[in-house]
Amino acid sequence: MTDWSKSDWRSKPRVQMPDYSDKAALAEVEARLAKYPPLVFAGEVRRLKSALADAAEGRAFLLQGGDCAESFAEFSADNIRDTFKVMLQMAMVLTYGAKVPVIKVGRMAGQFAKPRSAPTERRGDQELPSYRGDIINELDFTPEARIPDPKRMLQAYTQAAATLNLLRAFSTGGYADVHQVHSWTLGFTRGENAARYRDMAARISDTLDFMRAAGVDSSRAHTLQTVDFYTSHEALLLEYEEALCRIDSTTGLPVAGSGHLLWIGDRTRQPDGAHVEFLRGVQNPIGVKCGPSMTTEDLKILLSRLNPDNEPGRLALITRFGAGSVGEHLPRLIRTVREEGANVLWSCDPMHGNTIKSSSGFKTRPFDSVLREVREFFAIHKAEGTVPGGVHFEMTGQDVTECTGGVRAVTEEDLSARYHTACDPRLNASQSLELAFLVAEELSALREERAAEAV
Ligand code: PEP
Ligand code: CO
Repeated sequence: MTDWSKSDWRSKPRVQMPDYSDKAALAEVEARLAKYPPLVFAGEVRRLKSALADAAEGRAFLLQGGDCAESFAEFSADNIRDTFKVMLQMAMVLTYGAKVPVIKVGRMAGQFAKPRSAPTERRGDQELPSYRGDIINELDFTPEARIPDPKRMLQAYTQAAATLNLLRAFSTGGYADVHQVHSWTLGFTRGENAARYRDMAARISDTLDFMRAAGVDSSRAHTLQTVDFYTSHEALLLEYEEALCRIDSTTGLPVAGSGHLLWIGDRTRQPDGAHVEFLRGVQNPIGVKCGPSMTTEDLKILLSRLNPDNEPGRLALITRFGAGSVGEHLPRLIRTVREEGANVLWSCDPMHGNTIKSSSGFKTRPFDSVLREVREFFAIHKAEGTVPGGVHFEMTGQDVTECTGGVRAVTEEDLSARYHTACDPRLNASQSLELAFLVAEELSALREERAAEAV
C-alpha cells in the first residue's frame, strides 16, 4: 500500500485513546518499543490468514477467546495454562462436531486496552477518569491510579512476550497432546448435570481408541502432539501498535508485530477515524466488531477501506447484537456484504450484547442469553445460505463466578464469591466447555444438512 504510513493515523480523529500529559515520557517509551523485537512474525500472520480464508468458506472454524482485559495483577503461569487448556478442550469438541480444523486464537498476550462507555466513573460523590486497561492506567479508584502512564506499555510488552513464550512452549512441548486434552474433558462430563454431553465425549473417546489401535498415535503423529495457537487483541492504543509495526522482509509490506489478529472495537470503527486508518495498512487479519449501530453505509466503506483487494481471510466481521436482536441486524449486514461481493468471515461474539446488571449489583451475562445469541447467529446464516465461521468468547480457565447459569449453575447470589475480572464478566471453565458442546451440536446439525443437500 503506497498511500499509507504507520503514523498517518495521528492526523485522524481519535476516540477512546488516552491523552498523555508527559509527552517526553511518551516519546521515550515509543522509541524504546520501536527497537524491541516484534512479538509475532509475518509468516505466522500469513498462515493464520490462510486458515481464516478456509473458515470463511466452511472448511475450518474459528474459536477466539480469552479475558476481556488481561491484567498485570492476574498474570501467572497457572492462569495462562488454564485458559490455554480449556480452549484446547473446546477446540477438540468443536472439531468433533464440525469435522473441520478449529483455528485457535487467544484474546491473550496483548489484550490490555479497553474502550469504555463513559469517560469518568462516579462512586459516591467522587468522580474520576475511567479505568482503560492496565496498559493505560490502574484499576484502583484513586486520582493517581487513573492517570494514564506511558511506561505501562513497557510492562504490557514484557507480559505479552512472556505469555507468548509460555503459549509457544505449551503448543509444542507435549502439553497439547490430544489424549491428554480429552482426559480433561471426560472429567467435566462425569458431573451430575453434564449427562447430555457424555454421549459426544464417549464418541470422541471411541475415535481416539480406534486411531491408537490403527497405529495413529501421538508418538508417531506429530500433529496429535502440537497445535497452532494464535494471539489477538483489540488494537486500541495506537502508539503501542505503531511502535511494534514492522516491515515483513519477505514481502516488504507492514505487519503489526503485537499480535497475529487485531480487531477494531464497536466504539472505534469510524470509517474516517484513527483506528481504521492504522489497521488498513497492516497485513494481519483484521476483525471488526459489529453492534446494532453498524450502518450499511459504514459497513460498505469499511469493506473497501480495510480490504481493498478483497483478499480472503483478511477480514472477520464479529457480530455482537444481543440475544433477540440478531434477526433485526444480521440479515441486513449479510445483504450488504453480498451486494458488495466481499469476502468476509462471519464470527459471533455473544458476550458484548448480553451484559446486564444483576440484582446484587455485579455486571453479569446470563449463560442462556449467550447461548441464545449463538443459536440465532446459526439460524440466520442457515436461512441466508451463508457460513457461520466462528465464535468469540470472553472466558477464562479459572473457576470464577462472573456469568450466571450453566450446568454447575452460578446464581446471582454466587457472583460475589469469585468475581475477578478487571472489566467484563467471563465464562468460567465449565461454562466455556458447555458452550463448546452446544456449538458443536449446531455445527454437527449444519454438516448433516449440507451432506443431505449434496446427495
Ligand atoms: C471487547 O471485545 O472487549 C469489546 C469491548 O468489544 P466491543 O468493541 O464489541 O464492545
Ligand atoms: Co469485553
